[in-house]
Amino acid sequence: MFKEYFQYKGISFPRLIYSEQGLREVENEFQVRDDDVFNVTYQKSGTVWMLEILSLIHSNGDPSRCRTVPNWDRGPWYETILGLQTARSNQPPRLISSHLPIQLFAKSFFQSKAKVLYTVRNPKDVFVSLYHFAQIFRPYKEPGQLDQFLEQFLEGDVPFGSWFDHVKGWMGLRGHENFFWISYEELQQDLRGSVERICRFLGKQLDARALDGVVENASFQAMKQNKMSNFSLAPRFLLDQTHSSFLRKGIAGDWKNQLTTAQSENFDRVYREQMQGLDLSFPWD
Ligand code: PPS
Repeated sequence: MFKEYFQYKGISFPRLIYSEQGLREVENEFQVRDDDVFNVTYQKSGTVWMLEILSLIHSNGDPSRCRTVPNWDRGPWYETILGLQTARSNQPPRLISSHLPIQLFAKSFFQSKAKVLYTVRNPKDVFVSLYHFAQIFRPYKEPGQLDQFLEQFLEGDVPFGSWFDHVKGWMGLRGHENFFWISYEELQQDLRGSVERICRFLGKQLDARALDGVVENASFQAMKQNKMSNFSLAPRFLLDQTHSSFLRKGIAGDWKNQLTTAQSENFDRVYREQMQGLDLSFPWD
Protein backbone atom coordinates (compact mmCIF):
# COMPACT_ATOMS: atom_id res chain seq x y z
CA MET A 1 0.00 0.00 0.00
CA PHE A 2 2.94 2.30 0.71
CA LYS A 3 3.90 4.09 -2.51
CA GLU A 4 1.09 2.50 -4.49
CA TYR A 5 -0.90 4.74 -6.84
CA PHE A 6 -4.39 4.29 -8.24
CA GLN A 7 -5.97 6.09 -11.15
CA TYR A 8 -9.11 8.15 -10.79
CA LYS A 9 -10.45 9.42 -14.11
CA GLY A 10 -6.97 9.25 -15.61
CA ILE A 11 -5.16 11.00 -12.74
CA SER A 12 -2.77 9.23 -10.31
CA PHE A 13 -3.30 9.41 -6.56
CA PRO A 14 -1.25 7.74 -3.81
CA ARG A 15 -3.36 5.08 -2.12
CA LEU A 16 -2.06 5.80 1.38
CA ILE A 17 -4.00 9.05 1.82
CA TYR A 18 -6.58 9.09 -1.01
CA SER A 19 -9.36 6.72 -2.03
CA GLU A 20 -11.62 6.36 -5.07
CA GLN A 21 -14.62 6.59 -2.77
CA GLY A 22 -13.34 9.83 -1.19
CA LEU A 23 -12.65 11.40 -4.60
CA ARG A 24 -16.11 10.41 -5.81
CA GLU A 25 -17.67 11.99 -2.73
CA VAL A 26 -15.69 15.20 -3.18
CA GLU A 27 -16.70 15.45 -6.80
CA ASN A 28 -20.36 14.47 -6.55
CA GLU A 29 -21.58 14.93 -2.99
CA PHE A 30 -19.52 17.56 -1.21
CA GLN A 31 -21.75 20.53 -0.42
CA VAL A 32 -19.90 23.74 -1.15
CA ARG A 33 -21.18 26.74 0.81
CA ASP A 34 -21.31 30.25 -0.59
CA ASP A 35 -18.96 31.44 2.15
CA ASP A 36 -16.30 28.77 1.48
CA VAL A 37 -12.87 30.00 0.39
CA PHE A 38 -10.79 27.52 -1.64
CA ASN A 39 -7.00 27.63 -1.78
CA VAL A 40 -6.26 25.79 -5.04
CA THR A 41 -2.88 24.96 -6.55
CA TYR A 42 -0.99 22.42 -8.53
CA GLN A 43 1.18 20.79 -5.84
CA LYS A 44 4.38 22.58 -4.77
CA SER A 45 3.18 25.96 -6.03
CA GLY A 46 2.77 27.75 -2.69
CA THR A 47 -0.25 26.01 -1.13
CA VAL A 48 0.81 26.23 2.51
CA TRP A 49 2.03 29.79 2.00
CA MET A 50 -1.37 30.87 0.71
CA LEU A 51 -3.04 28.85 3.46
CA GLU A 52 -1.05 30.84 6.05
CA ILE A 53 -1.84 34.15 4.34
CA LEU A 54 -5.56 33.36 4.24
CA SER A 55 -5.58 32.17 7.87
CA LEU A 56 -3.85 35.38 8.93
CA ILE A 57 -6.14 37.61 6.88
CA HIS A 58 -9.08 35.89 8.55
CA SER A 59 -7.65 36.65 12.01
CA ASN A 60 -6.74 40.26 11.10
CA GLY A 61 -3.02 39.51 11.28
CA ASP A 62 -3.21 37.89 14.73
CA PRO A 63 -0.98 34.77 14.64
CA SER A 64 -2.54 33.02 17.68
CA ARG A 65 -4.58 30.52 15.67
CA CYS A 66 -1.74 29.84 13.23
CA ARG A 67 0.45 29.02 16.21
CA THR A 68 -2.00 26.68 17.89
CA VAL A 69 -3.84 24.84 15.09
CA PRO A 70 -2.00 22.77 12.44
CA ASN A 71 -2.39 24.14 8.94
CA TRP A 72 -4.01 20.89 7.75
CA ASP A 73 -6.87 21.54 10.20
CA ARG A 74 -7.14 25.25 9.36
CA GLY A 75 -7.34 24.63 5.63
CA PRO A 76 -7.69 20.88 4.99
CA TRP A 77 -6.90 19.33 1.61
CA TYR A 78 -10.44 18.08 1.06
CA GLU A 79 -9.52 15.41 -1.49
CA THR A 80 -7.56 13.43 1.12
CA ILE A 81 -9.40 10.85 3.23
CA LEU A 82 -8.83 12.75 6.47
CA GLY A 83 -9.08 16.23 4.94
CA LEU A 84 -12.59 15.50 3.70
CA GLN A 85 -13.75 14.73 7.25
CA THR A 86 -12.11 17.89 8.57
CA ALA A 87 -13.55 20.06 5.79
CA ARG A 88 -17.01 18.69 6.53
CA SER A 89 -16.76 19.29 10.25
CA ASN A 90 -15.02 22.70 10.24
CA GLN A 91 -17.20 25.66 11.18
CA PRO A 92 -18.04 28.16 8.45
CA PRO A 93 -16.61 30.25 6.98
CA ARG A 94 -14.39 27.38 5.85
CA LEU A 95 -10.96 27.58 4.30
CA ILE A 96 -10.33 24.52 2.11
CA SER A 97 -7.16 23.60 0.21
CA SER A 98 -7.02 21.48 -2.91
CA HIS A 99 -4.67 20.24 -5.61
CA LEU A 100 -7.48 18.76 -7.68
CA PRO A 101 -7.61 19.52 -11.39
CA ILE A 102 -10.76 21.46 -12.21
CA GLN A 103 -12.56 18.48 -13.78
CA LEU A 104 -12.43 16.58 -10.47
CA PHE A 105 -13.43 19.52 -8.26
CA ALA A 106 -16.70 19.50 -6.27
CA LYS A 107 -19.51 19.95 -8.78
CA SER A 108 -21.49 22.02 -6.31
CA PHE A 109 -18.79 24.69 -6.43
CA PHE A 110 -19.90 25.65 -9.93
CA GLN A 111 -23.38 26.55 -8.71
CA SER A 112 -22.10 28.47 -5.70
CA LYS A 113 -20.67 31.87 -4.84
CA ALA A 114 -17.70 30.29 -3.06
CA LYS A 115 -14.35 31.85 -3.90
CA VAL A 116 -11.28 30.21 -5.39
CA LEU A 117 -7.77 31.61 -5.05
CA TYR A 118 -5.48 29.86 -7.51
CA THR A 119 -1.71 30.14 -7.00
CA VAL A 120 0.64 29.31 -9.88
CA ARG A 121 4.42 28.94 -9.82
CA ASN A 122 7.12 28.61 -12.43
CA PRO A 123 6.76 24.94 -13.38
CA LYS A 124 10.53 24.46 -13.36
CA ASP A 125 10.56 25.41 -9.67
CA VAL A 126 7.46 23.29 -9.09
CA PHE A 127 9.31 20.36 -10.62
CA VAL A 128 12.44 20.89 -8.50
CA SER A 129 10.38 21.29 -5.33
CA LEU A 130 8.42 18.13 -6.19
CA TYR A 131 11.61 16.20 -6.91
CA HIS A 132 12.86 16.91 -3.38
CA PHE A 133 9.45 16.44 -1.80
CA ALA A 134 8.96 13.02 -3.43
CA GLN A 135 12.09 11.86 -1.59
CA ILE A 136 10.65 12.68 1.84
CA PHE A 137 6.90 12.19 1.39
CA ARG A 138 6.28 8.51 2.03
CA PRO A 139 3.05 8.10 0.02
CA TYR A 140 4.95 9.13 -3.14
CA LYS A 141 7.14 6.84 -5.19
CA GLU A 142 10.87 7.50 -5.06
CA PRO A 143 11.57 9.92 -7.91
CA GLY A 144 14.77 8.16 -9.04
CA GLN A 145 17.13 10.05 -11.34
CA LEU A 146 16.20 13.66 -11.96
CA ASP A 147 16.27 13.18 -15.73
CA GLN A 148 13.83 10.31 -15.59
CA PHE A 149 11.53 12.13 -13.16
CA LEU A 150 11.59 15.18 -15.42
CA GLU A 151 10.21 13.08 -18.28
CA GLN A 152 7.42 11.82 -16.05
CA PHE A 153 6.60 15.34 -14.88
CA LEU A 154 6.49 16.72 -18.42
CA GLU A 155 4.20 13.87 -19.46
CA GLY A 156 1.94 14.42 -16.46
CA ASP A 157 2.77 10.97 -15.15
CA VAL A 158 2.86 12.13 -11.48
CA PRO A 159 0.18 12.54 -8.80
CA PHE A 160 -2.39 15.17 -9.80
CA GLY A 161 -1.43 14.78 -13.44
CA SER A 162 -0.04 17.36 -15.80
CA TRP A 163 0.95 20.83 -14.56
CA PHE A 164 -0.01 22.16 -17.98
CA ASP A 165 -3.52 20.68 -17.90
CA HIS A 166 -4.04 21.83 -14.32
CA VAL A 167 -3.10 25.42 -15.07
CA LYS A 168 -4.98 25.57 -18.36
CA GLY A 169 -8.06 24.08 -16.70
CA TRP A 170 -8.21 26.43 -13.73
CA MET A 171 -7.13 29.51 -15.63
CA GLY A 172 -10.19 29.00 -17.81
CA LEU A 173 -12.11 30.60 -14.92
CA ARG A 174 -10.29 33.91 -15.38
CA GLY A 175 -12.76 36.73 -15.51
CA HIS A 176 -15.26 35.00 -13.19
CA GLU A 177 -15.88 37.19 -10.18
CA ASN A 178 -15.35 34.37 -7.69
CA PHE A 179 -11.95 33.43 -9.17
CA PHE A 180 -8.64 35.10 -8.32
CA TRP A 181 -5.19 34.03 -9.41
CA ILE A 182 -1.73 35.05 -8.33
CA SER A 183 1.77 33.69 -8.78
CA TYR A 184 4.26 32.48 -6.20
CA GLU A 185 6.69 34.90 -7.81
CA GLU A 186 4.38 37.88 -7.16
CA LEU A 187 4.06 36.80 -3.54
CA GLN A 188 7.86 36.76 -3.40
CA GLN A 189 8.29 40.14 -5.05
CA ASP A 190 5.67 42.03 -3.11
CA LEU A 191 3.99 40.13 -0.31
CA ARG A 192 2.30 43.17 1.21
CA GLY A 193 0.89 44.35 -2.12
CA SER A 194 -0.24 40.78 -2.86
CA VAL A 195 -2.00 40.54 0.50
CA GLU A 196 -3.79 43.80 -0.26
CA ARG A 197 -4.98 42.39 -3.60
CA ILE A 198 -6.14 39.19 -1.91
CA CYS A 199 -8.03 41.24 0.69
CA ARG A 200 -9.79 43.21 -2.03
CA PHE A 201 -10.88 39.97 -3.68
CA LEU A 202 -12.15 38.64 -0.35
CA GLY A 203 -13.90 41.91 0.47
CA LYS A 204 -11.86 42.17 3.65
CA GLN A 205 -10.36 45.39 4.97
CA LEU A 206 -7.21 45.23 7.05
CA ASP A 207 -5.57 48.23 8.70
CA ALA A 208 -1.80 48.76 8.45
CA ARG A 209 -1.09 46.89 11.67
CA ALA A 210 -3.11 43.87 10.63
CA LEU A 211 -1.33 43.86 7.27
CA ASP A 212 2.01 43.92 9.10
CA GLY A 213 0.85 40.91 11.10
CA VAL A 214 0.01 38.96 7.95
CA VAL A 215 3.28 39.81 6.21
CA GLU A 216 5.48 39.05 9.23
CA ASN A 217 3.83 35.78 10.14
CA ALA A 218 3.56 34.46 6.59
CA SER A 219 7.28 34.95 5.91
CA PHE A 220 9.32 31.86 5.10
CA GLN A 221 11.33 32.26 8.33
CA ALA A 222 8.23 32.65 10.51
CA MET A 223 6.56 29.64 8.93
CA LYS A 224 9.70 27.54 9.23
CA GLN A 225 9.78 28.25 12.96
CA ASN A 226 6.08 27.59 13.47
CA LYS A 227 5.47 23.91 14.21
CA MET A 228 1.83 24.32 13.15
CA SER A 229 3.03 25.32 9.66
CA ASN A 230 6.31 23.47 9.10
CA PHE A 231 4.87 19.92 9.24
CA SER A 232 7.16 18.90 12.10
CA LEU A 233 3.98 17.51 13.71
CA ALA A 234 3.22 15.32 10.69
CA PRO A 235 3.60 11.61 11.48
CA ARG A 236 6.97 10.18 10.42
CA PHE A 237 5.28 7.44 8.39
CA LEU A 238 4.00 10.21 6.11
CA LEU A 239 6.81 12.74 6.08
CA ASP A 240 10.43 12.26 7.04
CA GLN A 241 12.18 15.63 7.21
CA THR A 242 15.57 14.26 8.29
CA HIS A 243 17.31 14.94 4.99
CA SER A 244 15.18 17.68 3.42
CA SER A 245 12.37 19.91 4.63
CA PHE A 246 8.86 20.60 3.45
CA LEU A 247 9.76 24.30 3.74
CA ARG A 248 12.95 23.63 1.80
CA LYS A 249 14.37 26.82 0.22
CA GLY A 250 11.40 29.05 -0.41
CA ILE A 251 12.92 30.92 -3.33
CA ALA A 252 12.08 31.59 -6.96
CA GLY A 253 14.52 30.32 -9.59
CA ASP A 254 16.12 27.38 -7.76
CA TRP A 255 15.69 25.42 -11.01
CA LYS A 256 18.77 27.26 -12.28
CA ASN A 257 20.83 25.40 -9.67
CA GLN A 258 19.27 22.03 -10.38
CA LEU A 259 18.57 21.65 -14.11
CA THR A 260 21.20 21.31 -16.81
CA THR A 261 20.96 23.53 -19.90
CA ALA A 262 19.70 20.54 -21.90
CA GLN A 263 17.02 19.74 -19.31
CA SER A 264 15.93 23.36 -19.18
CA GLU A 265 15.73 23.58 -22.98
CA ASN A 266 13.72 20.39 -23.14
CA PHE A 267 11.37 21.86 -20.54
CA ASP A 268 11.03 25.07 -22.59
CA ARG A 269 10.17 23.10 -25.70
CA VAL A 270 7.37 21.16 -23.99
CA TYR A 271 6.18 24.36 -22.30
CA ARG A 272 5.91 26.14 -25.65
CA GLU A 273 4.04 23.23 -27.22
CA GLN A 274 1.61 22.94 -24.34
CA MET A 275 0.97 26.62 -23.72
CA GLN A 276 0.99 27.93 -27.29
CA GLY A 277 -1.93 30.05 -28.38
CA LEU A 278 -3.03 30.74 -24.82
CA ASP A 279 -3.68 34.32 -23.89
CA LEU A 280 -1.78 33.97 -20.63
CA SER A 281 1.39 35.56 -19.39
CA PHE A 282 3.28 34.71 -16.25
CA PRO A 283 6.19 36.37 -14.44
CA TRP A 284 8.58 33.65 -15.66
CA ASP A 285 7.65 33.96 -19.37
S1 PPS B 1 2.24 21.04 -1.27
O1 PPS B 1 2.86 19.81 -0.71
O2 PPS B 1 1.89 20.82 -2.68
O3 PPS B 1 1.10 21.51 -0.52
O4 PPS B 1 3.42 22.12 -1.24
P1 PPS B 1 3.26 23.70 -1.45
O5 PPS B 1 2.94 24.33 -0.16
O6 PPS B 1 2.36 23.98 -2.61
O7 PPS B 1 4.69 24.12 -1.93
C1 PPS B 1 5.84 24.00 -1.11
C2 PPS B 1 6.84 25.03 -1.62
O8 PPS B 1 6.43 26.34 -1.18
C3 PPS B 1 7.50 26.91 -0.43
N1 PPS B 1 6.98 27.83 0.61
C4 PPS B 1 7.34 29.12 0.71
N2 PPS B 1 8.13 29.88 -0.06
C5 PPS B 1 8.30 31.17 0.32
N3 PPS B 1 7.74 31.71 1.42
C6 PPS B 1 6.93 30.99 2.21
N4 PPS B 1 6.38 31.55 3.28
C7 PPS B 1 6.69 29.63 1.86
N5 PPS B 1 5.97 28.62 2.40
C8 PPS B 1 6.15 27.54 1.62
C9 PPS B 1 8.21 25.71 0.16
O9 PPS B 1 9.47 26.03 0.66
C10 PPS B 1 8.24 24.79 -1.05
O10 PPS B 1 9.12 25.23 -2.07
P2 PPS B 1 10.65 24.77 -2.19
O11 PPS B 1 11.11 25.33 -3.51
O12 PPS B 1 10.68 23.29 -2.18
O13 PPS B 1 11.37 25.39 -1.03
